[in-house]
Formats: sequence, C-alpha cells, structure tokens
Amino acid sequence: MKQGKVDALLGIVFGDEGKGKVVDVFTPKYDVVARFAGGPNAGHTIIFDGKKFVLRSIPSGIFDEGKLNIIGNGCVIAPDLFMAEARELQEAGYDLRSRLHISKRAHLILPTHRVLDRAYEAAKGKNKVGTTGKGIGPTYSEKASRTGLRVGDILENFPQKYAALKARHEQILHDLHYTDYDITDEEQRWMEGVEFMRQFPLTDTEVEINRLLSEGKSVLAEGAQGTMLDIDHGTYPFVSSSSTTTGGVCTGLGVGPNKIDQVYGIFKAYSTRVGAGPFPVELFDETGDRLREIGHEYGAVTGRNRRCGWVDLVALRYAIMINGVTQLIMMKSDVLDGFDTIRACVAYERNGEILSDVPFDTEGCTAVYRDLPGWQEDLSAMTSEEQFPQTFKDYIAFLEQELQTPITIVSVGPDRAQTIMLGSVN
Ligand code: GDP
Ligand code: IMO
Ligand code: MG
Repeated sequence: MKQGKVDALLGIVFGDEGKGKVVDVFTPKYDVVARFAGGPNAGHTIIFDGKKFVLRSIPSGIFDEGKLNIIGNGCVIAPDLFMAEARELQEAGYDLRSRLHISKRAHLILPTHRVLDRAYEAAKGKNKVGTTGKGIGPTYSEKASRTGLRVGDILENFPQKYAALKARHEQILHDLHYTDYDITDEEQRWMEGVEFMRQFPLTDTEVEINRLLSEGKSVLAEGAQGTMLDIDHGTYPFVSSSSTTTGGVCTGLGVGPNKIDQVYGIFKAYSTRVGAGPFPVELFDETGDRLREIGHEYGAVTGRNRRCGWVDLVALRYAIMINGVTQLIMMKSDVLDGFDTIRACVAYERNGEILSDVPFDTEGCTAVYRDLPGWQEDLSAMTSEEQFPQTFKDYIAFLEQELQTPITIVSVGPDRAQTIMLGSVN
C-alpha cells in the first residue's frame, strides 16, 4: 500500500498569520489533523456560516465531522482550559469524543506553572517577554529538566504526583518571594478538567499516526506560533518555548522527516507581533494604526494590541530556509486595500551596515524598504484570481521573485469562503 504523507502548515513569522482559517479550509483533503507544538498560548480563529470559534489546544480540523484530530506529544495542555474549549464546541453541536485523541506524552500545565510564568515575568523587570501568561515557559522548562507531568500520568497515582510537583513549585515561588497568589478556585476547575479529559482517548498518538501513515492516510500538521517565536530560531529570548518549525513536526508528532511532503508557510501581506522583542518593521505612525484598525490586530488570546508594520522579506527568507517551505500562503491581503503605496522590507540596516540575513540579534536593526504601488479595489469581494487588480498581481509576483517560492493561496477575508487558490500568476 502507498505510504501516507504529512504536510505541515506553519506560521512563519510572529504567529497569528491565519493558520486556523487555512487548516479548516484544508481539512477536507486530509484524514488527520494534528497539533505538534504549543498549547493555549495559541489562538486560532475560524469563521464560517456566520459563526466564529477561537481554538487554543484543539486542532482546527475539528469542524469536519469525519476527521481524526490529534493533540501531539510536543504540545502542552491545561486541563481546565481544554475543558472549557471542548465544552464550547460540544455545546455548539460538535461531537468530539471519538475523534479527538490526546498524546499521553504531552505535558500538563499546572495552575502553579501559570503562577510561575507571572513570577518569572515580574522578576524580569524591563526585559519582560510579554508572555500570554498560560504557563508555557515553565512547563516546557520542566519538560527539559525532566521534572514535568505528562497526560499519561493522570492514569496512575495522580494525586501524589500532582502534590509533589505543586509543592516543588510552591518552594520556588517562596524563594522568589512571590507569595501573593491564590489558586483555590482555579485548582478546583483544573482537577475537574483532569476528570473531563479521561473521556477522550489518551493514546500513544505517535504509534497511531505512523500506523495511519502506513495505511496510506494523510496527515496535516497544524503549527502554532511562528518561526520567529521558535525556541531555537526565533528572536531569543523574546520567543515562546517550543519548536514551531518543520523540525518540531518530527519531534512533536513522532514522525520521520522522510514522511514530510509539502511545507506550507503562512504569512500576512504585512507584519504583526504581539509581546515584547525586536521588530525592525514596526510602524509607530498612523500607517501602523491604520493596519491595526483595518486588520483588527488585537490578540485572540490576550486582547493585547498587535504591533504592526510592512511585510518583512528578511524574516520570510530566513523562515523559508529554516522550514524548507515549498509553498507560501498569503493572508489578509484585503487589509492593504486603499493604500497608495505599499512597502516591503528588503533588508535591515544597523550602524550603516546592510544586512540581508536575520542576524544573531535584530535589536537596533531598522528596515530598508522597497516601495510598490497599491490598489484601490476591494479584494474581499473577489472570488477568483482573474478579478485581481494588476497592481495586486504585481505585488504577488514581486514577493515570489524576492522569496523564490510560489504563493499558491491568497486570503482576502476572514471567512472560510474568502480563500483563493492561485494558478500561475507569473
Ligand atoms: P492564527 O493564530 O495563525 O490561527 O491566527 P489568528 O486567528 O490569531 O489571527 C488571524 C486573524 O485574522 C483572525 O481574526 C482571522 O479571523 C483573521 N483573518 C484570517 N484571514 C484573514 C483575511 O484574509 N483577511 C482578514 N481581513 N482577516 C483575516
Ligand atoms: P498563535 O498560534 C502570537 C508570543 C507571546 C510572547 C511570546 C511568549 O495564535 O499564532 P508564551 O506565552 O508562549 O510564553 O509567550 O510568544 N506568542 C504568540 N504570539 N501568536 C501566538 O500563537 C503566540 N503564542 C505565543 O505574545 O511574545
Ligand atoms: Mg493566533
């Protein structure tokens, strides 16, 4: 039998590129959709038939009733938040139980991990990362230091294991003089969440995925965050704590690199970043405000303002290289409607030096721009490539030329239906 394959859909900048929307659009083509990294720091928005959902831990393939969805071993999961998310979907009429499998090897985010997240941020003073406060850093740190708890741990002697880890956290918090917290209610909901999780198949998803691949089934790996937030390749230390790149698909699902076929790199027609850290294309003027307003650039998880700027080709080239991106997907093209001039960052400059690769530290870098003509038409009403204004086609062709990678899908609005597959635009 023909081997199945894994395609990856990865955010390749600072997250919030529109991964949820495209995974939902792609799901009919696949048998399985699997998250391989991150946890409830993610917020993936899906809009169809006048309904809107924001998913955090549950894969965005969940709206296609026939498909298996997997939370892989590379993920971290908060039982209380998972319960709230799953209940919302169940109340909306989606039956999840048989088609949402959770890896026993995924790590658990405890309430005290969230307190630690706040405590470490507070201790950083001016150098705060601006985390989502979901306990991501402390949970992945404990995974690496081999003290964490995994989903499979809830199946045996859990109260003892939980109490031991909680006591360890309390000691750390005490040592940090961070004692003004109360998790009583949160802990109760968390324990309820642990019980709730037991109704789902808690499995060796790694074995399951490989068995399905050997039966010829296809898997879509849904990224979370983005390449510039990757623990190795992002703007460290202003990053998240997981492997958000193609390498993370292999470790986060337990599949070999030879199983990976297409790598879809998803980006916006402009740039955003939420949280702290260098951002060479950031605009502090009214153009930045206009992008934020038109693009509704407010975080899906925290509601924070997203920082906005023009598209960053230096970061995109780097991400394409790191991930082995085979196809690009450009989102939120409609947000650029009505600008007389559109700019693209083609290089960074620092102390008079021009940099065309992402340096060790992008602090102090500013953007070198290339100006392109804008378009006045309303892209959001368009349904095919033929309707695109020439200036927009030229923008696509310019990006493809600069990035040496084809753009095969363009998104012109938040709805599932506002997604246009491209033939050859060149
Ligand atoms: P994700 O984390 O990568 O899944 O992205 P988010 O859901 O955090 O952020 C993307 C936001 O853009 C959501 O509010 C989407 O509804 C919205 N969106 C997605 N695609 C488009 C598009 O083509 N145009 C517009 N205007 N909005 C879009
Ligand atoms: P999705 O999957 C955008 C950012 C946070 C912060 C940094 C570290 O929706 O694209 P963390 O809580 O992970 O320790 O925070 O990473 N961040 C995201 N930014 N989209 C995300 O996910 C993000 N997940 C984390 O804002 O700067
Ligand atoms: Mg998001």
